[in-house]
Amino acid sequence: MSAPPLVPPIKCQGIKTKLVSEIRALLAQKDYERWVEPFCGSCVVPLNLQPQRALLCDSNIHIIRLYRDVQAGRLTAPMAKASLTVEGEKLRTRGEDYFYEVRERFNTSPSSLDFLFLNRSCFNGVMRFNRSGKFNVPFCRKPDRFAVQYVSKITNQLRRIGEVIANKDWTFEAADFRVTLAKAVPGDYVYADPPYTGRHVDYFSSWSEQDENDLADLLKQLACKFVLSTWHSNEFRTNLLLERNWTEPRFQLFTRQHFYHVGSTEDLRHPTTEALVTNLSGVRYATAQPALEQMAFFEKPVAAYGRPTPKTRHKS
Ligand SMILES: C[S@@+](CC[C@H](N)C(=O)[O-])C[C@H]1O[C@@H](n2cnc3c(N)ncnc32)[C@H](O)[C@@H]1O
Repeated sequence: MSAPPLVPPIKCQGIKTKLVSEIRALLAQKDYERWVEPFCGSCVVPLNLQPQRALLCDSNIHIIRLYRDVQAGRLTAPMAKASLTVEGEKLRTRGEDYFYEVRERFNTSPSSLDFLFLNRSCFNGVMRFNRSGKFNVPFCRKPDRFAVQYVSKITNQLRRIGEVIANKDWTFEAADFRVTLAKAVPGDYVYADPPYTGRHVDYFSSWSEQDENDLADLLKQLACKFVLSTWHSNEFRTNLLLERNWTEPRFQLFTRQHFYHVGSTEDLRHPTTEALVTNLSGVRYATAQPALEQMAFFEKPVAAYGRPTPKTRHKS
């Protein structure tokens, strides 16, 4: 049995913890020189694949600041433990007023420790910012949030990722995906996991059809390998942009059903069929004895993903 995935200390929508093994399986060998992620989010994929060199970017400056702080030793497990213990005690005694005080402090003068506090005590672990770029997720309403065990869990996560990052040649940059992809060179391996159109819309993630099409155009022009994560369908509709952008035979498409646990509304927690699109040719399976789920994933290249039926179109 394979080891459980390494879990990052921050949560975000669309986190790909459950796709790590499939993404790893697409890499028959580590035959690339640098891992490039234009939408790194929580960084769960590189933290688990652990490439020696990586360029990890996201438009969300708070995520990038946190990883840079970890890398530079400005944010360590002991620091987080001390801070979350003290702040957690204030939360316990002062309740939601204290959550909103920290939120205000973060929005005035952002810091990685406050970001961690908010990310782990806000409603549903959602990461959302208003039009002015201010964090606006409400309190999870659990004043005892930072109990000793929970603080240990977070600080252990931080310690483990700190150990991984310390031994790697990784660069974290706050950048739009167009800027990141312009830096990709032959020998790189690009993993692109953009927001899903019309899903998590906020200051850092206002993802439009134009963005989706620009991304497809840029990926198609890359002189290196890439894997794109996107959604294929859910019970309400099918991703027509997938059909529009990725039907050339030089691209391979794989699907897998995935259930999101992070979401502010019920519809975000519905099962979704995920898609991975790649320009890798003749994908080989990397593990000797793939788990059943992984087999199903690879045995099901999408032959027919159609337009929504009139019934589902009406629903959406
Ligand atoms: C689906 S999430 C990535 C999740 C990540 N793969 C993980 O497992 O945690 C999409 C990310 O894209 C970022 N993003 C949104 N628009 C962007 C843009 N134009 N350029 C770069 N990053 C962007 C968001 O901040 C978010 O972190």
